[in-house]
Amino acid sequence: MKVVIVYASIHHGNTRKLVEAIADKYEIDMVDATTQQKADLSQYELIGFASGIDFGKFYESIERFLKENLPEHKKVFFLYTCARTSESFTQTMRTEALQKAAVLTGEYGCRGYNTYGAWKLIGGMNRHHPDRAELDSAVRFYESLLENLQEK
Ligand SMILES: Cc1cc2nc3c(=O)[nH]c(=O)nc-3n(C[C@H](O)[C@H](O)[C@H](O)COP(=O)(O)O)c2cc1C
Repeated sequence: MKVVIVYASIHHGNTRKLVEAIADKYEIDMVDATTQQKADLSQYELIGFASGIDFGKFYESIERFLKENLPEHKKVFFLYTCARTSESFTQTMRTEALQKAAVLTGEYGCRGYNTYGAWKLIGGMNRHHPDRAELDSAVRFYESLLENLQEK
């Protein structure tokens, strides 16, 4: 199955670590939406969008990338890292993807090192996250996606 993960990982490269953990084990293409605004995604059967969370949402660059490049009827999943994992941050991305008749296959989020604002003064929060266990969980999430899709 041809897979691409489009990512934006601006704050500390936290989200990129999730993408790289998957890329270390599986052959996937990676697109950095902060440096590349256009890509032909028609060849991919499964498309991931990965981002740090910026005031409750995915980074603007990745929202725009989805709007401008996601072909219709694609299978889509989401990855993110954030300061606090208590809420889901994918609402806007899900809505935009559904407008392209995407099939939403799942999402995985975990904590990421955060030095925004006053956190910087005390060394940040979630130091050393994503950690090994969270990276392994991201890979397991990806594996379960593949299994589910292959069963269909
Ligand atoms: C400007 C800014 C806004 C943020 N807003 C949120 C937020 O609303 N909710 C949250 O849980 N984390 C928030 N964070 C924390 C980041 O989402 C977190 O550090 C993430 O792991 C960064 O990912 P990246 O290094 O891949 O960019 C914010 C961080 C910054 C710098």
